Amino acid sequence: MKKAIPDRLPTHVAIIMDGNGRWARHKKLNRVEGHKVGIDSVREITEVTRELGIPYLTLYAFSKENWSRPREEVKTLMELLGLYLELELPFMMKNGIRFNVIGETGDFSKALQSQFDNVIKSTSRNRNLVLSIALSYSGRREIVRAARLIAGDAKKGVIKRIDEKTFKRYLYAPAIPDPDFLIRTSGEMRLSNFLLWQVAYTEIYVTDILWPDFRKKAYLEALRDFARRERRFGNIKEY
Ligand code: FPP
Repeated sequence: MKKAIPDRLPTHVAIIMDGNGRWARHKKLNRVEGHKVGIDSVREITEVTRELGIPYLTLYAFSKENWSRPREEVKTLMELLGLYLELELPFMMKNGIRFNVIGETGDFSKALQSQFDNVIKSTSRNRNLVLSIALSYSGRREIVRAARLIAGDAKKGVIKRIDEKTFKRYLYAPAIPDPDFLIRTSGEMRLSNFLLWQVAYTEIYVTDILWPDFRKKAYLEALRDFARRERRFGNIKEY
């Protein structure tokens, strides 16, 4: 019988949650229904991550490019995001989950921004899992932003050396280690501008399962795949 929980787990799992629209289309439903059920997957995957003791989870919920979706869909996604934060705060508190946002938070309404701040502040002492949600996120923008901030600090003489370690300090979440495992649902073999700096040595896993159907069983299967991989970081295999 297959062992359910792999013996070697990643420290940081990042997920590109894709396929809500297709899931809804297959069921002849409105795309919004796909996003709603997608939120149930967010909850289940967060819960399992916490149960397994994986300390970092980063979810790609809304890209900078997603703003160009039809106005109605963007509006609904914003409403769902607000609802998610409201409903999940008690769950985060109960489970020791610390909430974090990466991305251009200034793009959101003032009301949502204050909700982000509130959940971030309320959960800041939680220690079991850091849950980061990428919102209005673009990997290239994150890199350009870091370069701009570095240039400013270099001009002021605040920094002298610019190396990889310095660079990381200027990213959205400097204290979070790079993901060691990246999962993408719904079959597309793309990074879609997600964590471009951070995924240099990340193991990538793509499944055809659509995000609303991606639950505990599929997650454990992905984690078992990770456990079987041999990570070499550009080095050679030891004999
Ligand atoms: C991709 O499916 C999913 C998104 C653009 C949004 C992800 C959002 C959620 C899971 C719900 C909201 C999340 C939170 C944390 C509140 P798609 O619409 O691109 O699907 P498609 O490629 O099949 O059209």
